[in-house]
Amino acid sequence: MKSLLFLVLISICCAEPHIGNYTLDHERIIHIQEDDGPLLSVVAEQSKVFSHRGGNVTLPCKFYRESITAGSGTHRIRVKWTKLTSDYLKEVDVFVAMGHHRKSYGNYQDRVFLKEGSSNDASLVITALTLEDYGKYKCEVIEGLEDDTAMVTLDLQGVVFPYFPRLGRYNLNFHEAQQACLDQDSVIASFDQLYEAWRSGLDWCNAGWLSDGSVQYPITKPREPCGGKNTVPGVRNYGFWDKDKSRYDVFCFTSNFNGRFYYLIHPTKLTYDEAVQACLKDGSQIAKVGQIFAAWKLLGYDRCDAGWLADGSVRYPISRPRKRCSPNEAAVRFVGFPDKKHKLYGVYCFRAYN
Ligand SMILES: *[C@@H]1O[C@H](CO)[C@@H](O)[C@H](O)[C@H]1NC(C)=O
Ligand SMILES: *[C@@H]1O[C@H](CO)[C@@H](O)[C@H](O)[C@H]1NC(C)=O
Repeated sequence: MKSLLFLVLISICCAEPHIGNYTLDHERIIHIQEDDGPLLSVVAEQSKVFSHRGGNVTLPCKFYRESITAGSGTHRIRVKWTKLTSDYLKEVDVFVAMGHHRKSYGNYQDRVFLKEGSSNDASLVITALTLEDYGKYKCEVIEGLEDDTAMVTLDLQGVVFPYFPRLGRYNLNFHEAQQACLDQDSVIASFDQLYEAWRSGLDWCNAGWLSDGSVQYPITKPREPCGGKNTVPGVRNYGFWDKDKSRYDVFCFTSNFNGRFYYLIHPTKLTYDEAVQACLKDGSQIAKVGQIFAAWKLLGYDRCDAGWLADGSVRYPISRPRKRCSPNEAAVRFVGFPDKKHKLYGVYCFRAYN
């Protein structure tokens, strides 16, 4: 980039007074430019790639060097992959390669490697994708003083769901909101994920935290208690709030799971404690809220029986709306957080595959 700017400045300052010899001067400048070192450009063929939890993905990145003396080899080239944090304020290290040396960082250890499809390929393969892998990545290639970058977004297939815990509505500060999603086999959703969910029809009249620290809610059917009847549909933004002191609900995101989600066939209705034990006895765990949403959205799971879930809530997933079973919409119906001693419900279990 530095050299390109140099070229442009020279062309302007020196070519103008000798219009007739412009071409000559220009060529001479290009020659100087080449002596100055190769130009490097880094390109991502796709700016967005799509996968799901548990899958593998290639983040594309190629570099091009405009050097006449191309024989210098690629040994001095350094490839660095970083990921932007969800507020886009910082970068965290993912992977670095220089010569034969390779290093991966944090949760990426043993899961990332260079594709090396060709000598100018800096594409990164990530295996066994996690929910946390979602986000924006930066591919940086450095050769001597030259340096260029490209951005790639990794998007995951999945489902966004609004969440509040047994404590009740508007009880979570930002940190508790993050933990509440983790506890339900999910992560706090990004704005882009909530926006996508809104475009697919999500309508929720309670404000929830998002991963960038903002508080928002999606409205597809404007109405009086949700910002006004005469407003346009959209994701309503409350803005950024104090992450320690402000309390809202949260929007969580989850993706495909590697396991089996099912309604336990049991001769009687159960209390919460009996429900937990019944799943254990079946070689499973009581299912989490993220798992009922993933099964419903990604597998079309449909069951018209209210069942306990791990957080003490009672819900049931309907993908084929019918009389007495969520007649008007496909949804995970929320019965509530009943008294845990009430022996009135079944249970949803989850068995992880390894
Ligand atoms: C171009 O440069 C040559 C040699 O420096 C000079 O003789 C000639 O007059 C120049 N032509 C114009 C149009 O300026
Ligand atoms: C992902 O890649 C790993 C290692 O290359 C391989 O063992 C695994 O089968 C792949 N998984 C999928 C879902 O393709």
